[in-house]
Amino acid sequence: MCGIIARIGQGEAADTLLTGLENLEYRGYDSAGIAVQNGSGVKVHKCSGEVSELKSQLDGQPHGNLGIGHTRWSTHGPPTDENAHPHTDTVGDVAVVHNGVIDNYDELKADLQAKGHEFESDTDTEVIPHLINEYLDDVDDTEIAVRQTVDTLEGSYAIAAIVDGEERVYAARKGSPLVLGLDDEEWFLASDVPAFLDHTDEVIYLEDGDLVTLEPDSYWITDLEGQPVDREVDTVDWDPEDAGKGEYDHYMLKEIHNQPTALSNTIEGRVEDGDVAFEDLSEGTFAEIETVQFVACGTSYHAAMYGAQLLREAGLRTEVIRASEYESTAGPVDETTLVVAVTQSGETADTLDAVRTATDRGARSLAVTNVVGSTISREADDAVYIRAGPEVGVAATKTYSSQAVTLSLLTQRIAADVPEATPAADREAMLAELQHLPEYVEQVLESTRAETLAEETLDSDSFFFIGNGLGHSVALEGALKFKEITYEHAEGFASGQLKHGPLALVTEASPIFAVVTGDGDEKTKTNAIEAQSRGAPIVAVGPEEHALVDVADEHLSVPATHPVWAGLLANVQLQLVSYHAAELLERPIDKPRNLAKSVTVE
Ligand code: F6R
Repeated sequence: MCGIIARIGQGEAADTLLTGLENLEYRGYDSAGIAVQNGSGVKVHKCSGEVSELKSQLDGQPHGNLGIGHTRWSTHGPPTDENAHPHTDTVGDVAVVHNGVIDNYDELKADLQAKGHEFESDTDTEVIPHLINEYLDDVDDTEIAVRQTVDTLEGSYAIAAIVDGEERVYAARKGSPLVLGLDDEEWFLASDVPAFLDHTDEVIYLEDGDLVTLEPDSYWITDLEGQPVDREVDTVDWDPEDAGKGEYDHYMLKEIHNQPTALSNTIEGRVEDGDVAFEDLSEGTFAEIETVQFVACGTSYHAAMYGAQLLREAGLRTEVIRASEYESTAGPVDETTLVVAVTQSGETADTLDAVRTATDRGARSLAVTNVVGSTISREADDAVYIRAGPEVGVAATKTYSSQAVTLSLLTQRIAADVPEATPAADREAMLAELQHLPEYVEQVLESTRAETLAEETLDSDSFFFIGNGLGHSVALEGALKFKEITYEHAEGFASGQLKHGPLALVTEASPIFAVVTGDGDEKTKTNAIEAQSRGAPIVAVGPEEHALVDVADEHLSVPATHPVWAGLLANVQLQLVSYHAAELLERPIDKPRNLAKSVTVE
């Protein structure tokens, strides 16, 4: 949902800005642009399309030691050259990049136009450089002008600005992420750490209301009143290699193959002597909880379904609510309610909004996220990290697996605190099998027939995914992934729902991927047979010894394991089917049309 970057220091800025933007393209790829400053004016280069398009249009590397950059997911105005960032004031002295939405831009624009400012784009962002310019007429200090500008803005923003003739970058944040990267000879600002991970792992997560000024050899942070603010320096434990594609053609494939490592990190230290431990959650944290509400969107919602089902089995009152529906559908909420926000990015507007609504009503909140320092991790009462490492492909893969595992463990941890709850009867066996999950995923990756299946079914009209219980979450996730990157019609259903309508769509050209886990598969079998008798080919996805073994036309096998983990292995097979189908269809796998990874608007 737009990515911004800024860089200042010795040497040239452009190359670093462009590479940083490539690492931020998961946030949007409708247009790209940079502005650099070299003492002879602010030079802006921008165009619609991806960063690669911008690079191909650059005639040599623009010269300058400081600059800003932007990659866009359109909100206000279509993805044209004019609407690409950076935006400038009328004379081109001030250039600004922005992630967020300025709610009062209409009135600000009208006001500025009345004062003679000329606008070139449809964006809300363009008011920002004009405002800075306007305030600079009254105060001869850009820092103050930026502060006054920020004070005028309503809405959300992470902005970075440069001004002709100044060896400085100015930035501010409210409601959109902004991280400061500290290297020996250069400073960075970006929407997310992968933008500069090649250069440094020392970061400061800026807070709402922070204003930052960077000079080549110093930086300072103030609040909106101009008072100095101290922020802690963190060290990021992500590997620079995590930010690139490595030997893989796509980030998505790399991230699918990274799942054994990601899962090992997710699990590490959390299961000891048959007990589940989360170091940041002290004993009794959930003692007063009577109801748990999971809120999430998209893939994270499917992972939340996983957690919700296990918690329900432990005897707790549990709801799982699509974050965008929270306001209208959440049941009663009070201080005995725990709202668990499941969000990879930690920045999804719908999810943040649901948590804010719940906490306003008195609920306790817990964030389950991948991104340290994200908005949700700061706003929730407690945060648990899924430790999957950076995920760049827009289609979430490894983070679903790590979310589902984290939530499965979390349910055991919550159940241990709540007197009315009963931890899973076969908990010991389940936790013992979890230790083998990374190696089971490895086995799936080594021996999968997903590519063959993708090829065999490619000419189909529709692709259906069914599953029961935990398999339902996997079926929905399988369908979401498939439609997202192949652009083919795909739908997921609870197995038993097929006959209540969707069966009308079933033909010999609509393969059914039936997820089996070893628990509750009879329903899946009955419904698969019903579809098969209407001509649909059935692909069973799960352990070899399963209910559909003598029925299915095809199998995508996974190692035998506890039913709680079998679905996650089936999901890896389905991720690969989607990937290979999209590859055969020559789709832009890492950047599906119209989508962005981090959706920071409602
Ligand atoms: C699908 C996908 C999206 C996200 C959703 C929520 O592959 O990635 O459906 O899961 O936009 O994002 P987060 O988890 O960042 O809140």
